Amino acid sequence: MTTASIRDVAAAAGVSVGTVSNVLNQPQIVAAKTVERVHTAITELNFVRNDAARQLRAGRSRTVGLIVLDVGNPFFADVARGAQDRASQDGLTVILGDSNHTATLESTYLDLFEEQRVQGVLISPIGDSTARLQQLRDRGIAAVLVDRLSPDSAFSSVSVDDIGGGQLAVEHLLSLGRRRVAFVGGPVSVRQVADRLQGANQAVDAASAGTLRHFPTSALSVLAGREAGEQILALPVAERPDGVFCANDLIALGVLQAFTSAGTIAVPDDIALVGYDDIDFAAAATVPLSSISQPSSLLGATAIALLIAEIDDPGTPREQVVFTPELRIRASTTLEE
Ligand code: RIB
Repeated sequence: MTTASIRDVAAAAGVSVGTVSNVLNQPQIVAAKTVERVHTAITELNFVRNDAARQLRAGRSRTVGLIVLDVGNPFFADVARGAQDRASQDGLTVILGDSNHTATLESTYLDLFEEQRVQGVLISPIGDSTARLQQLRDRGIAAVLVDRLSPDSAFSSVSVDDIGGGQLAVEHLLSLGRRRVAFVGGPVSVRQVADRLQGANQAVDAASAGTLRHFPTSALSVLAGREAGEQILALPVAERPDGVFCANDLIALGVLQAFTSAGTIAVPDDIALVGYDDIDFAAAATVPLSSISQPSSLLGATAIALLIAEIDDPGTPREQVVFTPELRIRASTTLEE
């Protein structure tokens, strides 16, 4: 059975080939009824676009790659959604890759995106990807860092002031009179974790009140948080922290789960708890979680806008966009009146 061509779809829908192309690439500029007619024809003819031919014709693919650290973390899902929503306004599609915090997977996705000749790459890098990203750029593929500053401005970047976010979290705990503060999170090889820990230390030092103890974790997951929570539960009461700041909400939800299932620690009465990211599950937790909010969707959309600027003009000056995190106060740190 021969596969239907774009011309067959146009004829079946009673529109031009150009309109079919617009429906495929920038449907927002086509009347809804026409979009519907074209999609009906695509379905009836079982049309599958010929990417290779289209890319050759267009000279470039209409795709960009996005590599996130952990697709299982709702924070990155929101970043990806924000990126796709903005990309589709320019007829671009985002191909999502999950490095899962492993360098080999990150490298695999970068190679794939190069083979696919994507127009650009957004990446939340594990380590220093400068050399590899510069190689891509030399081959005509733009690159923007997401959730990571580009210190030497080699690339444009969109990030959040994580040091400030760590300070905000611990200043909040100290303002509640908590003095034995714990930072739960790791590995510190993850830039975001290291910056949040630095901010936490700076807050304690600046207040010259209280102590900070680090409970390192091997991952930024609910399981790692639960294990850290059990570690805290095993401590003599006098040695337990009275305030816990977690490197992200997934860890905080794990710590909360350990405390509530043990039934021996009341949050926030015995231990106040703060997370980071303000994912939807934070507010929905058994004890709604106070958290440091990141504008995740806006991070994705802004990164795409910077990438499109570089795609259109490789000489575009590099820009470092840094958002300010905000404290969302909920029941996990505020005693009911
Ligand atoms: O991936 C680790 C963390 O860094 C995420 O939870 C999010 O906070 C990101 O900034």
